[in-house]
Amino acid sequence: LGEGPLKGRHVVVTSGPTHEPIDPVRYIANRSSGAQGTAIAAALADLGARVTFVTGPASVPPPQGVSVVAVETARDMLAAVQAALPADAAVMAAAVADWRVTNAAGSKMKKDGTGRLPALEFAENPDILAQVAQMAEGRPRLVVGFAAETDDVIAHATAKRARKGCDWIVANDVSPATGIMGGAENAVTIITAGGADVWPRLPKAEVARRLAARIAGVLA
Ligand code: C5P
Repeated sequence: LGEGPLKGRHVVVTSGPTHEPIDPVRYIANRSSGAQGTAIAAALADLGARVTFVTGPASVPPPQGVSVVAVETARDMLAAVQAALPADAAVMAAAVADWRVTNAAGSKMKKDGTGRLPALEFAENPDILAQVAQMAEGRPRLVVGFAAETDDVIAHATAKRARKGCDWIVANDVSPATGIMGGAENAVTIITAGGADVWPRLPKAEVARRLAARIAGVLA
């Protein structure tokens, strides 16, 4: 640990889904496995970085050699990221829930026998990537976001890069037919100020190694 081109650099990585409670036993989630974020954290640590790995409830175990901060909700994740800063780079691979339930019940919701249905109310979650990318002071030198798209990947990801204010967007096509979400491989396009780099379909570990090497190229 600590040897390599990223020696002495601190990188915050978010990963996994978030869970947004409905009541003590139910929640809203998404199909993110955390596999790509985990592989990226491992690859950064392999290059010598000190990695703070802020993870929602993922279905793969966290990597070795990183500081793991386990969170549940988007708001927990934002607080954990803020607590982990300052950092040289932030890589936001988490699939953060866009909305949380504002009328979550304190005890398990029950059918009341009348057939009346519960009504969930929602509020928008904070955008962790946008907040970090737009920090007035202490912004990480490199802020990397992800874009899971199902169509027009480059156009949507390029717009997202501008909207969020991040340096790079790692865009991927998560159409069900690709098998990427929850799968072992990923086909990504890296959107930077200079344009779009289309990478071939690769194992998630190899995508992670290439991305970590590119990050080292900026920070080293
Ligand atoms: O807007 P969208 O969810 O498509 O953006 C995806 C990118 O933004 C990912 O990098 C994700 O980790 C980040 N994000 C975030 N906080 C949110 C929503 C998305 O950090 N509330």
